[in-house]
Amino acid sequence: MKSISAEQQGVSPYRVWPADPASFSTRRMSPLRHNINEHPLFQLSALQDLAHELMPTGQCRFQRPGATPGSAFQHQPTHPQGLSVDETFARMEEPGSWLALYNVDTIPRYQAALTRIVDDLRPVIEPEQPGIFLVTGFIFISAPPSITPFHIDRENNFWLQLRGRKTMYVWDNTDREVIPAASVENFIVGGDQTPYQESFRARSREFNTVPGDGVYFPSTSPHMTRTDTSWVKPGDGISISLGVNFYTSVTRRTAQVHQFNRFLRRLGMSPAYPGQSTVDSLKAPLGHWLAAARYRRIGAKAPPGAY
Ligand SMILES: [Fe+2]
Repeated sequence: MKSISAEQQGVSPYRVWPADPASFSTRRMSPLRHNINEHPLFQLSALQDLAHELMPTGQCRFQRPGATPGSAFQHQPTHPQGLSVDETFARMEEPGSWLALYNVDTIPRYQAALTRIVDDLRPVIEPEQPGIFLVTGFIFISAPPSITPFHIDRENNFWLQLRGRKTMYVWDNTDREVIPAASVENFIVGGDQTPYQESFRARSREFNTVPGDGVYFPSTSPHMTRTDTSWVKPGDGISISLGVNFYTSVTRRTAQVHQFNRFLRRLGMSPAYPGQSTVDSLKAPLGHWLAAARYRRIGAKAPPGAY
């Protein structure tokens, strides 16, 4: 819910906007422009302070060098060689360094900045996807060569390049050759990722980004990133990106239909994909009920937006 309007706050100097406003839709990937790279909270020294705040709760994540597109997207709450936060930042330019700051929205000043970004974007989101909830932020800091493996997420994502260069590969979330309906369901219901195949690469859209560039992609769009060393110079070898993620009434309803479709598939049926059936309005509440009952039964906390 919008507490204070953008008009009341005045126009934010740090903004994100569609590169091509006329063709932008929340239903498909689309290039963005922004100046969040100039925001004081997203400079390297501010991120070092943030990392200290997130370290005790395990939200500061480390990945071993040497990930490939097909690696499992695994990261740990401690550095693989035991480095401290300050040592990690001091050595960040070393090839293959990788650090992610998860759910930076748990820190109030970052939550305010993320809310401000999304509030500015409401006019392009809400006509298609009302009911925005749970705005979260994820920051990735790395030195090339580095890879974020192929995966899908539950949220819609405004992905922004803040420093250095990075190549983002995004696949259409309707590309059933890359991500079959049953695989999307497996992820929504059970969190299972689809394994990467090199043959997928040709079907992706490649965004070669520099600070000021970004990409919007909707929930369950497969994506991966790669940084290479071609642009690296001494003192300029760190790549930073920010994902501003959010759910809507549409992402939630789609997830609910997936939950019910799983039930139908177990009965041997081939249910219509969410959005392609006139009985979605019936499936969604049933999917919600089934998933809530399952999570209660297994005693697990459901991921946000799962049903
Ligand atoms: Fe992601």
